[in-house]
Amino acid sequence: MEKGARNLKSLKFYVHTFGCQMNKNDSERIAGILSTAGGKISNSPEESDIIIVNTCAVREKAEEKLYSYLGRLATFKKKKKSTIGVVGCVAQLYGSELLEKKPFIDFVLGPDNYNQISEIIHSNHEEKFASTSWSQDYNEIPHEKTFRESNISAYVTIMEGCNNFCSYCIVPFARGREKCRPMQNIIEEIQSLADKGYKEIQLLGQNVNSYKDPDTGKDFSILLKEANQTEGIEWIRFITSHPKNFTKKIATTMKEAEKVCHQLHLPVQSGSSSVLKRMNRGYTREEYLEKITILRNLMPDISFSTDIIAGFPGETEEEFQETLSILEEVRFNNIFSFRYSPRPLTVACQEKDTISFEEKRRRLIEVQDLQKKIQLELNKSLIGRDLKVLCTGKSKKAPHIYSGRNEGHQVVNFKSKNDVIGCFVDVHIASYGPYSLHGEAIKQ
Ligand code: SAH
Ligand code: SF4
Ligand code: F3S
Repeated sequence: MEKGARNLKSLKFYVHTFGCQMNKNDSERIAGILSTAGGKISNSPEESDIIIVNTCAVREKAEEKLYSYLGRLATFKKKKKSTIGVVGCVAQLYGSELLEKKPFIDFVLGPDNYNQISEIIHSNHEEKFASTSWSQDYNEIPHEKTFRESNISAYVTIMEGCNNFCSYCIVPFARGREKCRPMQNIIEEIQSLADKGYKEIQLLGQNVNSYKDPDTGKDFSILLKEANQTEGIEWIRFITSHPKNFTKKIATTMKEAEKVCHQLHLPVQSGSSSVLKRMNRGYTREEYLEKITILRNLMPDISFSTDIIAGFPGETEEEFQETLSILEEVRFNNIFSFRYSPRPLTVACQEKDTISFEEKRRRLIEVQDLQKKIQLELNKSLIGRDLKVLCTGKSKKAPHIYSGRNEGHQVVNFKSKNDVIGCFVDVHIASYGPYSLHGEAIKQ
């Protein structure tokens, strides 16, 4: 790569992120590396010398959005000779193939290669470059460099990769096998966030329940207990939990560690045991429901959210009805629902996708309509209650309205006489919609 150095100090950079929280946190780290090296963060790709696109491959739609975005970059690269780097999951999957197919891209880096980014940009980029190497150990990027979007709530990655190989999912191919970050580094990062005034942390991993400290073997429950000791941090959340690895021990820790929010994202994917088997999820409908019951017995106020896939290959109408009935039975506070999308390399994509696009769409709409009705009912029952809310900003639509989330991670919009951004506020709930609650601050 050495080809005469370029000075980053005079350069503006822009990072565009597709995908999950993990990618958002990675982008914050990339922005941190570039700004530490002297680059200036910019809000517009048009005026930037370096454009980094952090990519997601989880569904066809995500890839389509990426290619249309890249098309736009190709057009304006003709006017301004910016350096374009593609990183993240699509970068990992296609590597140097991307450089051949999209000649306007200058470099491609998989998620385990971000430490190389400033070196690549420093060298002048006459030679195209792709790296998708994967080390066995967790690749630490010094956390002080992270350039975070929020100064109230912070993501903290605790592990990378996934060993589960759900039959529909491309993530294990894009993110490699599970590797855990040393607990000491995680706790140090949380402490430094507390010192900076952060109030909330969200621990990230594809399957946080299987976390194990590579140095000591301490598990996720111990990590939660240690994080709970951090003075200054008041709320701790984590995502994602795989139902098959969610143990009674973790549930008990959630109850006992007072900063751990009584809120859990537990993706069920389908309500049918036969579909779950074909998805290779490792649990049945009954086992999933049993975990929900245990959790509710321990924490009656717990709020659940989930992910649903509609129209998995071979899903019969009967099996689909079981997904609707599990939504009725659990009454999740929120769901993320998707039409099944065949992904390369996965086991499911080798099966014939017998369900038409229209039928998948019909099922998805039924899921979303039912869930909307449930959320309206659940939110209605909160009228008149006073909820503790962490205010994270102002509403985008109405600037005199503040916005935040309650312990259950529901969006709460509210009026307040004082500026309460970054504070915990008690909000009296007066009205609701399916996706948010509305009220007024009662105590500051
Ligand atoms: N590790 C997390 C998140 C994985 S991706 C977990 O295990 O839950 C986030 C969600 O995308 C998944 O939970 C699933 O609902 C959805 N998803 C993944 N692959 C998909 C596919 N091929 N088609 C449709 N949805 C998919
Ligand atoms: Fe994908 Fe399953 Fe791993 Fe989640 S647990 S990332 S859905 S393979
Ligand atoms: Fe997408 Fe990669 Fe996350 S495929 S969902 S960005 S792990």
